[in-house]
Amino acid sequence: MSQIPQAVRERADSLHQQLDDANYQYYVEDEPRITDAEYDTLLRELQSLEAEHPELKTPDSPTQRIGAAPAERFEEVTHAVPMLSLDNAFDDAELAAFVKRVADKLECDGDTLTFCCEPKLDGLAVALVYENGRLVQGATRGDGRTGEDVTLNLRTIRSIPLKLRGDSIPPLIEVRGEVYMRHSGFEALNARARENGDKVFANPRNAAAGSLRQLDSSIAAARPLEFCAYQVARLEGEDDAHSHSDYLKRLRTLGFRTSPLLDVVKGERGVIGFCHRLGEQREGLDYDIDGAVLKVDSLRDQRELGFVSRAPRWAIAYKYPAQEQTTTLNDVVFQVGRVGTLTPVAKLEPVQVAGVTVANATLHNMDEIERLGVRIGDTVIVRRAGDVIPQIVGVVESQRPATTRAIEMPEHCPVCGSQTERLEGEVAARCSGGLFCPAQRKEALKHFASRRALDIDGLGEKLIDLLVEREWVKTPADLFRLEAKSLAELPRLAEKSANNLVNALEAAKRTTLARFIYAVGIREVGEATAASLAHHFGSLQALSEASLEALEAVEDVGPVVARHIHTFFRQPHNQETLEDLQGVGVTWEEVEIAGRPQPLAGQTWVLTGTLENMTRDDGKARLQALGAKVSGSVSKKTAALVAGEAAGSKLEKARELEVEVLDESTFLQRLAEWENAEENQ
Ligand code: IVH
Repeated sequence: MSQIPQAVRERADSLHQQLDDANYQYYVEDEPRITDAEYDTLLRELQSLEAEHPELKTPDSPTQRIGAAPAERFEEVTHAVPMLSLDNAFDDAELAAFVKRVADKLECDGDTLTFCCEPKLDGLAVALVYENGRLVQGATRGDGRTGEDVTLNLRTIRSIPLKLRGDSIPPLIEVRGEVYMRHSGFEALNARARENGDKVFANPRNAAAGSLRQLDSSIAAARPLEFCAYQVARLEGEDDAHSHSDYLKRLRTLGFRTSPLLDVVKGERGVIGFCHRLGEQREGLDYDIDGAVLKVDSLRDQRELGFVSRAPRWAIAYKYPAQEQTTTLNDVVFQVGRVGTLTPVAKLEPVQVAGVTVANATLHNMDEIERLGVRIGDTVIVRRAGDVIPQIVGVVESQRPATTRAIEMPEHCPVCGSQTERLEGEVAARCSGGLFCPAQRKEALKHFASRRALDIDGLGEKLIDLLVEREWVKTPADLFRLEAKSLAELPRLAEKSANNLVNALEAAKRTTLARFIYAVGIREVGEATAASLAHHFGSLQALSEASLEALEAVEDVGPVVARHIHTFFRQPHNQETLEDLQGVGVTWEEVEIAGRPQPLAGQTWVLTGTLENMTRDDGKARLQALGAKVSGSVSKKTAALVAGEAAGSKLEKARELEVEVLDESTFLQRLAEWENAEENQ
C-alpha cells in the first residue's frame, strides 16, 4: 500500500472525485459541465493508474461500473420493508374521492392538505441499500416480500451512486426508485439489434427489465439504463424530515436523481391540475410514464393513514390511457418510396392508443415481419409513444383465428408492375423500375419541390400526382417547362394560381448549392450532409468529380454514403438530369470555402416553432454555415434553442434542462453579428 507515491494517490482521488461530480451534474442536475469525450479521458487515466497500482481499485471507483464475471443465478433478497403497490384512479372524480377519503380519515379540510405529485415512470422498481454511504445491495421488487439480488447489474447504472455524496451520510438508508430506459436509448438499442439480426424489445420497459435480468452484468453495462429515486424506505441516523418532499430533497443532496417534474400542491384542485399538466407534457417526454403518483406529503399524516392490504392509504396512482392496445391486422400494403424501397404498412382495425386513433402502423421490412411472426388476421399489439410512428410490437398468438394469411413480398411493384428485387445484404426489397415507376417519380418530384429542397411554393403533393399521371412531368427539369396556359386547364387550378405557380417556379430557380444537392435525392444524403458537401466542395463540378477518399473526408460522410454519392454522379442519366436542370436555368452562387471561420463549431442547436422572418430550414442552413450542428431534439448537450411562435414540448424541455432559449429577433441579431464577423475576417 505504502509503495504508491503520494502524488499518484492524490491524482487518483482527484480523478475519482471529478468523475463522481460529472455523473452527478449529468444525471441529477441535468447540467453536464464536461463532454463525454472528456469524461472518457479522465476515466481512462484512472483505469491506467489502477492497473499500475491495483490497491487503488476500490469497489466504489467509477471504473467499477463495467460489469463483473457472470453469475450462476440471482440470490433471493427479503425486503426489510415490503415493497407495496398502489391503488389506481382513472379520472378526476376518482382523484377527488381519494382526496376526500384522506381528508375524512384525518378529519381535516381537503383543501388544506399538501400532496407531493410525481410522474409514474414506466420501468421497474428497485430497492438500494447503502451502509455508511456505500451501495451494498440492490434488489428487484419481486413479489413485494422477496426480490432478486441484482446489485452487480445496478452498479453499472451511472445515475446510481456507488458512494453517497455530502457530509450528512446516514449509517443506513434504503432508497427506492425506478430503473427505466429513455426512448432515445431504446430506439438506438433496437436499431442496433435490427441491424445485427438480434432480438428487438417491444418497449423500453421490457428492455429495462430484460437488461436487469442479465446474469452477465457486462451486458447490463452496455444498456442505456437510468435510475430515478422516489422513496426512502428505511433511514437510520439523523433524520429531520417532516414530509416526503423533504426526503426527496435529501435524496438529491445524497446524489440521487429525483424527477424534475415533481410538484408540491394543495387539495383536490392542485392534484387534478398536476395530473392534467403532466398529461399534456407526456407526449414530449423522452421516457414513458404511465401515470402520476400523488402522495400525502406530511409524514405524520402518512403514519396516521397507514395501509390497507397491500397499498398505502396515503398515495394513489392516476393512470393515463395506455400506450399499447390490441387490435386486428386487416391487411398489409406495400408503399413505394423515393428510391423504390417497399415498406410494408399494416392496415389495422382502427383503435385508440394514448388518445389518438391509429389505423396504420409501420412494419419496417420483411425481416421484422418474420421476427414478429405476424399474419394477416392476427390480433396484434400496437404501441404509440410520443412522436414515434405507431409500431406493431407483438402478436397475441393465443387469439390467432384459423383463417390467417401469410404476408408476402409482392413479386411485382404494386404501382408500376416492375419486378421487385432484394439486394444482397439489404433488408429492404425494392422496385426495380427506377424513374419509370410513377410512385418513385412522384416521390422524387415531391422531394425536389419540398420546402427544404427547392421550396417550390404552390406545388403540392396532389398537383404533383396529377402532373405525373398526365405525363406532363417526367423529370424535375420538366417542371420548369410548364406553362401557365396549360396549367390553368387542370382541375382546381385557376388562372391566378397557375400564374403564381409559374412565378414560384421561376423564383425557385435561384437556389443554393446545398439545397440543390439535397433536392436531387442522392440516397442517404439528407439536408445536413448536403450542407456539408456544399461547404466542403464549393461547386457541383468539384463534388461530381470527387473520389471516394475525398468524399469520405467530409464530416458526416461514411463509406456507405460516399459510395452512394460516387455512384450517383457516375450514372449518365443523372448527369443528364443535372445538365438539364442547369439548362432550364437553375442556378446558385458558388460557395466560398477557403478558411471560413466557424464560430459555432462543436455546438448543437435546435430550432422549434414557427419563425416569422425566415423558414426554419433557412435558419438551420445559416447555423450550419457557421459550423453548428442542428438537431431535432433538445438534450443536455444543446447549446441553445431557437423558439418561434407556438413552440411546444421542446421549449418546455429546454427550460427543464436550463438550455439557453433565443426568440426570433435575438436569433436574427446574433446570426447577423456572427455572419458579419466572418465577412470582416
Ligand atoms: S411510490 C408505497 N412513486 O409504481 C408506494 N411508485 O404500484 C410505493 N412507480 O411498482 C411506490 N413511479 O415502481 C412510487 N414516483 C413514484 C413511482 C412509482 C413509478 C411504480 C413503482 C411501483 C408502482 C406502484
